[in-house]
Amino acid sequence: MRDTYQRDINYLRVSVTDRCNLRCVYCMPAEGVKALPHDEILRLEEIETIVRAASLIGVKKIRLTGGEPLVRLGLESLIQRISNIPGIDDLTLTTNALLLPGHASSLKEAGVKRVNISLDTLRTERYREITRGGDLATAWEGINAALDAGMHPVKINTVVMRGFNDDEVVAMARLTLNRPIHVRFIEVMPIGSSNSWTNGRFVPTEEIIAQISSKLGPLLPAKMSSGSGPAKYYQLKGAEGTIGFIASMSEHFCQSCNRLRLTANGALRPCLYDSREVDLKTPLRAGADLKELADLFMDAVALKPDRHHMLEGWRDKSRVMSQIGG
Ligand code: GTP
Ligand code: 5AD
Ligand code: SF4
Repeated sequence: MRDTYQRDINYLRVSVTDRCNLRCVYCMPAEGVKALPHDEILRLEEIETIVRAASLIGVKKIRLTGGEPLVRLGLESLIQRISNIPGIDDLTLTTNALLLPGHASSLKEAGVKRVNISLDTLRTERYREITRGGDLATAWEGINAALDAGMHPVKINTVVMRGFNDDEVVAMARLTLNRPIHVRFIEVMPIGSSNSWTNGRFVPTEEIIAQISSKLGPLLPAKMSSGSGPAKYYQLKGAEGTIGFIASMSEHFCQSCNRLRLTANGALRPCLYDSREVDLKTPLRAGADLKELADLFMDAVALKPDRHHMLEGWRDKSRVMSQIGG
């Protein structure tokens, strides 16, 4: 359906868990985040019902996020259920890939068309530092497992941070030369309790483009066959993969925002930045039918702001990024 600003809302990001097997420094505080009690988290069949209601207002694309979606038990069965919902034609995951080895084929069979994988560095030590303990070799096994399982395109999300990985953008861009890997550089956002870490780390897209093209040649505009998100895509001459940029801060894409978010505890969040939410879990558990849930979706769409105001700071103290789902 269309919102007040004539945007077509057709994409729902579903956080299936607030838990994660990593604690990336820009996403979570060092002590981690207190996990929600089990009964606060939506059950799989509740998520299925909510997606059915979403499809009634015109949602066609579903992305499962977390925390880390692959830590949620029964995820494959949820994927199968969602795949069978009429009107849902794109079902994808955003993951850190650590649990993809061994799961990629069954996820593909269940109905995941493609995956976006978070990977901020190509260096083992740095990976351990940014993820607070993660193993880079395992993440690569996961990326390769996704490629082998035929989940195309495989997109890698790299949040660029001054003084941490801004010296690796050329190496990351090179990944696209000989393999069908699509690397997307993301401007860091001042989100949640990660503020103290992200302060002073912002690198504008323009600077990343300049670095890459001075070393590897011009970036030619490219088309990405799949995707519903905010990235703009380019390609190095003769490359197999593409290079995307998500300029959330320097050139925000709010005017074409097509999404709502469902949190793991059953609230609809009209905007990443905005703390206003519409509770679905309480009415659902009180017996609301699909039509009533679809009406609540319309309420959430009506609350969608015209744009974010992250340049003025992060006002929402209620959730960190891992609880919103990216
Ligand atoms: P595609 O369907 O492949 O285009 O996916 P996507 O880019 O929508 O999903 P993904 O989970 O890979 O998101 C990549 C990054 O884009 C996130 O990590 C965020 O940094 C950013 N992003 C996604 N949605 C929003 C949004 O609504 N607002 C802002 N400001 N940033 C967003
Ligand atoms: N700014 C930009 N991107 C972020 N992500 C997590 N926190 C931030 C932030 N502060 C990204 C992750 C992952 C996606 C789900 O969200 O790197 O790719
Ligand atoms: Fe987990 Fe993703 Fe947050 Fe890292 S960015 S801690 S992988 S939810």
